[in-house]
Amino acid sequence: MSFNVLMVGDIVGRPGRKILTEMLPRFRADYSIHFAVVNAENAASGKGITKSIAEDFLSLGADVLTLGNHVWDNKDILGSLDNERLLRPANYPPVGVPGHGIFRCQLPSGVKITVVHLMGRVFMTPIDCPFRTMDKILEEVAPGEIVLVDFHAEATSEKKALACYLDGRVSVLCGTHTHVQTADEQILPNGTAFISDIGMTGPHAGIIGMRSKEILERFLTQMPAKYEVGEGDEKFQALFVQLNEQTGKAVTVERINFDVQQD
Ligand SMILES: [Fe+2]
Ligand SMILES: [Fe+2]
Repeated sequence: MSFNVLMVGDIVGRPGRKILTEMLPRFRADYSIHFAVVNAENAASGKGITKSIAEDFLSLGADVLTLGNHVWDNKDILGSLDNERLLRPANYPPVGVPGHGIFRCQLPSGVKITVVHLMGRVFMTPIDCPFRTMDKILEEVAPGEIVLVDFHAEATSEKKALACYLDGRVSVLCGTHTHVQTADEQILPNGTAFISDIGMTGPHAGIIGMRSKEILERFLTQMPAKYEVGEGDEKFQALFVQLNEQTGKAVTVERINFDVQQD
């Protein structure tokens, strides 16, 4: 029997929240999803997440929420990081950082799942090594258990490198952060499903989810300008993976790029 996983790309602002509210329950039903991981680092006006948004997402069908480099943008998050289903990157320094980067559970069916959230180091702020962090995490995971990784990183090379390093040791490694979906979804030789970036759930008409006006101002003047969430060309972007429940390895992988407005 297959175990069906949905990994959803960064939810951006109010348009992204609306899309997720409409699409997640529908995709859960249509694809017989057993477990859904949603990247929510841009859910609150494009920057971070609030306690109430996190609760909404979890109640509408997300099993685990991941964040990323915008984790600290909304101070409201600090009261929510004790929620075991809301993850910040696991490779922050081991002492003095609130929250956690790993979620583990055993479903009523007996299936054991570990979700890990990691952040990259290439063109990102300095953080502990994601490769060695993952080695340490996997010491606690038995062979055959399902392991889902959201690797929040800029460089495609770093994402593919971590996927190759973990091939056969994790079930799924999805890149997030760039908001641009890549067309390289694949199952690696030892059974790990991979995509460099899932993409973004939100408005694609501007520049990676934001209105283009302020971003252009910043490029043209090098002066600060407050970003505003964009609108138009709304898409639900995700990765659907069927796993072998016994081995935890990927059987099929499908990239989802659903145009909400054409529905
Ligand atoms: Fe993002
Ligand atoms: Fe990000």
